Amino acid sequence: MTEFYNRLLPWKSAVIVAVDLMGGFSKEGKIPWHYPEDFKWFQQHTKNNICVMGRTTYDDIDRKLGDMAEASVLPSRECYVVTSRPLKRMNATPIPNIESLAKYRDEDNAHKTVFFIGGELIYKESVELVDEAYVTVINTIVEGADRFFPVDYVAEHFKTMNSANAQTFDAVFTLLRRTSY
Ligand SMILES: NC(=O)c1ccc[n+]([C@@H]2O[C@H](COP(=O)([O-])OP(=O)(O)OC[C@H]3O[C@@H](n4cnc5c(N)ncnc54)[C@H](OP(=O)(O)O)[C@@H]3O)[C@@H](O)[C@H]2O)c1
Repeated sequence: MTEFYNRLLPWKSAVIVAVDLMGGFSKEGKIPWHYPEDFKWFQQHTKNNICVMGRTTYDDIDRKLGDMAEASVLPSRECYVVTSRPLKRMNATPIPNIESLAKYRDEDNAHKTVFFIGGELIYKESVELVDEAYVTVINTIVEGADRFFPVDYVAEHFKTMNSANAQTFDAVFTLLRRTSY
């Protein structure tokens, strides 16, 4: 991981997620809420940057967009989908693991931020590497949530730099920065 981390530089990197009070972010293959304000926060931070996601996360976004996905699943972003299979996904480059990302760094994208946008395994691996965490904490507990963000790791190794209440739902947008490895 250290070698990968060195190769990932000078990319700035972050995880971005919306979680319930237990760190849950998905239930039965779907995001268990729909808050346009959170989607706007996600768009605002990831736009013109790089997004790395697991295959299920990509397919969930694709399914939600329906016909609109024809144009682009995540427009104005350079997208990479982690998959163990030789799958093709529109507007996204398949990669076998997050380490493979390093070979796509070039002069055009070196200034961008790499956002790891889920799901569970991607968060678990990337949270040990990234500089920042954008975490929307929603004031609810989703019964039956079956995918979890590593909140304990973040609490131990990151410090909150900014937090702001959401206007349209009961949640706090937080930006955390790494303090230790
Ligand atoms: N609330 C939020 O902020 C948030 C954020 C992100 C996602 N979500 C939700 O979370 C759900 C998906 O999360 P998930 O954890 O179930 O799935 P996921 O991580 O998105 O996708 C899992 C798939 O990604 C591939 N993969 C992941 N890690 C890999 C690795 N290290 N090596 C090789 N392949 C790897 C595999 O694809 P193959 O099977 O093709 O090999 C695996 O089956 C969706 O409902 C999504 O909408 C919510």
